[in-house]
Amino acid sequence: MKRIVLFILLAAALLFGQSVTGFWVLKIPTGDGNFRETFFDLKQNGEAVTGNMVGGRGGITIDGTFKDGKLHFILVPPPPNPNQKGPGGPGGRGGQTYDGMWQAGKFAMTVTGGRGNQSGMLEPSRPEAALPPARIPPPELHDVKDNGLARPPAMGWNSWNLFAGRVDDKTVRATADAMVSSGMKKAGYVYVNIDDTWEGPRDANGNITTNTKFPDMKALADYVHSKGLKIGIYSSPGPKTCAGYEGSYGHEEQDAKTWAAWGIDYLKYDWCSASRIYKDEDMQAVYQKMGDALVKAGRPIVYSLCQYGRSKVWEWGPKVGANSWRTTGDIRDQWQSMDRIGFGQFDIAPLTGMPRDQASISVADFTKPGRFNDPDMLEVGNGHMTNDEYKTHFSLWCLLASPLLAGNDVSIMTQETKDILMNAEAIAVNQDPAGLPAKRLPPRGTSEVVIRPLKDKSIAVGLFNRDDKPADISVTWASLGVKAKKPKLRDLWKHAPVTAEADRFNASVPPHGVVMIRASAK
Ligand code: GLA
Repeated sequence: MKRIVLFILLAAALLFGQSVTGFWVLKIPTGDGNFRETFFDLKQNGEAVTGNMVGGRGGITIDGTFKDGKLHFILVPPPPNPNQKGPGGPGGRGGQTYDGMWQAGKFAMTVTGGRGNQSGMLEPSRPEAALPPARIPPPELHDVKDNGLARPPAMGWNSWNLFAGRVDDKTVRATADAMVSSGMKKAGYVYVNIDDTWEGPRDANGNITTNTKFPDMKALADYVHSKGLKIGIYSSPGPKTCAGYEGSYGHEEQDAKTWAAWGIDYLKYDWCSASRIYKDEDMQAVYQKMGDALVKAGRPIVYSLCQYGRSKVWEWGPKVGANSWRTTGDIRDQWQSMDRIGFGQFDIAPLTGMPRDQASISVADFTKPGRFNDPDMLEVGNGHMTNDEYKTHFSLWCLLASPLLAGNDVSIMTQETKDILMNAEAIAVNQDPAGLPAKRLPPRGTSEVVIRPLKDKSIAVGLFNRDDKPADISVTWASLGVKAKKPKLRDLWKHAPVTAEADRFNASVPPHGVVMIRASAK
């Protein structure tokens, strides 16, 4: 019986010349010489086409038709999982429509919805093409040599928050120029960091190349260096980066050598597709591999981990030679995102599952010179927060000794943005050589007091109002451990001395705003 059905199907295929049953890859050009690949396993039954989208979070099915050489289907997201907490639910890639015209064994496709209209080719493929490469066993653990870099947190700029996939050679050169002309360089910002989407394919020898947006990375590095600045790059321990570009999997030493030869000074190394090969328990060993590769490459390269704060990275980050490690998912240019990430640094609880009031130490406590938590890059100046909110953002990141990586277009900054990003007195708190952790004083709520002891025995104090109406916040000298009867006070946003009562400092703080002072015994 089966044989007869197969025969009829084959005869039909021969007769009509076309069947879409099989494994396919949709290649959508990204405009820089690369393609974004999506795999489909399709089944044709008469004119009906069903099947699955392969990869991603899984569970997306296909509903469509193939008729008169025209393929048409939609993606059907999996039913919502009632046990799944937080945002998510159906979403995924649902809502997109795929239309294709048969062209000599392939389809010229148009995808409508989602990221907007896109075109590409749907070509026959094999199921193996959708699988991750074989697992390379991670190395035995050992301590990677300290590179001695970024003793105070690194300062610079990163392309992702604003430019994302649009970053190119021209943007980086213009940024380097603007870092100098705007005064950012003078204020301490040094690194010009290219995030994801610079990568091209590997050449015949397995060397990573750049894509068409970056015609000559060595020349670009030379240009950035000629301005007295340094240059950073991005990769992943997985086969693909988060944006789907070539990662460093299996090429760690080779890539570190290439970057060193180009003159790269900073690497952000982003977990992404490594999760298709490794478990979270492997993270330390996997990050150690690149830590070793950077040391072996022989060029001073700041090592910045990005694995979203999983597996208590703050405990083993220094062991893999990292100068900083992300402690959270991606920041957005929005008050709720920044507020949650910034104040979340004082809780180890949300990250370990431990109830908040039992968390005796916080992520922030792991700060040391050359070893910093990274609550993600700055959004100051990107336009979706108020000035007071950006001041809160910057003050918190300074108190937390976070790397200060501007994420805006530094060539078109307003005076307000400049005044925030180049606040020398706030930056001095961030760059304090003692590298001590910040503490959040109890009680917690919409009014928060965050302090950071500094090398000269003074204390930086941020009085934060997380509420959407003005608040009076006060802090006593006793709670700060300041012994002086009348400490010397300076307002780090007004850039002026301030006076206070004998035992305390009172401030009226605007909604979502901050008052930041530095208190020192006379
Ligand atoms: C991840 C990182 C981001 C950015 C993108 C690039 O989401 O967390 O900071 O690097 O990847 O694809």
